[in-house]
Amino acid sequence: MPLSLLALLFACDGSKGEDSGSAALTEAPTWSEDVGPIYARTCASCHAPGGAGPFDLTGYEEAKAWAVASSLSVQARTMPPFLVRGDGTCGDYVDNQWLSEEEIATIAAWAEAGAPEGSPGATFEAAPLAVLPADAVPYLTPDFTPEVVGGEYAENDEYRCFDVGTVDQDTFLVGYSVEPGNAAMVHHVLMMPVDPDSAASGGRTAQEQMELLDAQDEREGWPCFVGAGTGVPTMSTPVAWAPGQGAVLFPDGSGVKIGAGDRLIAQVHYNLVDTSLRGEADQTQINLLLSEEVEQEAFIALPDGFLETLGAFNEAAIPPGESAWTYTWDAPSYELLYYYGGSTEGLTGASIWGVLPHMHQYGTKMNVSLNGECIADVPQWDFGWQRVYFYEEGLPLDGSETLEVSCTYNTEGESEEITPGWGTYNEMCLSSLYVVLHRD
Ligand code: HEC
Repeated sequence: MPLSLLALLFACDGSKGEDSGSAALTEAPTWSEDVGPIYARTCASCHAPGGAGPFDLTGYEEAKAWAVASSLSVQARTMPPFLVRGDGTCGDYVDNQWLSEEEIATIAAWAEAGAPEGSPGATFEAAPLAVLPADAVPYLTPDFTPEVVGGEYAENDEYRCFDVGTVDQDTFLVGYSVEPGNAAMVHHVLMMPVDPDSAASGGRTAQEQMELLDAQDEREGWPCFVGAGTGVPTMSTPVAWAPGQGAVLFPDGSGVKIGAGDRLIAQVHYNLVDTSLRGEADQTQINLLLSEEVEQEAFIALPDGFLETLGAFNEAAIPPGESAWTYTWDAPSYELLYYYGGSTEGLTGASIWGVLPHMHQYGTKMNVSLNGECIADVPQWDFGWQRVYFYEEGLPLDGSETLEVSCTYNTEGESEEITPGWGTYNEMCLSSLYVVLHRD
């Protein structure tokens, strides 16, 4: 929509309040009254000094300089990168950064009017990010200088996996935080436990597979565009962090089990679109809050009815040359509880507390529902921004529900069908769920 149209829309919809009457038609929004508070909630967790965003949106001068670009980004909904629709119709999220249509119209009208300041000198900072208790255990990625890998899907990026350590006894992960060494380039960090003795591809163990990948080049770690690297089996991704997220304390007094001796594999997405970062190094610290006991055990389910057809007689595939092709699968919730939850002894119920939507590069939209009720909707998928979205309240599960997931893909540039899989040129339709089990 052109800016002027949006400005008009803003002026007419009376969102300045009924009684301001005709003033709303003539008075443009200002930084001090209107835009600053919106930016504080939706931009400033990244666009502040030392943050991941490339400029500062907490004060007027720089916000004004970036007003037009910001207006375009928010209208295109590429910023903020809060991918799940948070308008209240499909899940209530912790630290919701979703922009309403009114807020987008306000930013657009403000930019259109030349970004007026209002009362001088107003600054708006984000609420401080949550921090972990001091007894969290730090795990470090190596001091690493990323390089642009190139190709269609890593044009300005590198995805690298590192073995950052282990835990020496069975334990529960109850929270985490991530401190990027070079905040401007670290775009997301995932961490997954890998049982070194589990079976990987080619008859190797997971450990042997990772060593094989690591030996491919002289640099630290190994390439891993998805998961922990080609052929490495992973059971869950309990750490999924993107800038601006702050520390995560798992909800409801819960924690996810990590087995003694599991290798902790970190996947770091380095983004080098800002060419001045090239040649710089990063060392990222992942802080894990571990506990021997938890009130409630949680698990991370990785249901993907598309991926599960791989190798089956009914193997699904996305046809080439489609601009919006949708695959839908469903599964009964008891299957998830049974498969991931282990023993049903004393089980009185469960609840979903978080969601991590995941597709690869062809994905454009995703929708997750429980018994027909929307629980997560991603109107515009962006592979670059991977993180978990936690709910304000758990969504109860008793095993009788149906989970339904729809993924839409764009394969316009392709001449061959896209099959399910873990590689760059395969696809997934995964709705990873953080589920807490309630036992007597
Ligand atoms: C989660 C962190 C985060 C939040 C929140 C965020 N940004 Fe960004 N923004 C970035 C990063 C990182 C970049 C650099 C380019 C990239 O990596 O996509 C960026 C780039 C931009 C750009 C440059 C053009 C572009 O689209 O790449 C604009 C303009 C922008 N942001 C505006 C905003 C505004 C306005 C908000 C709030 C309404 C916002 N951003 C919220 C992280 C964030």
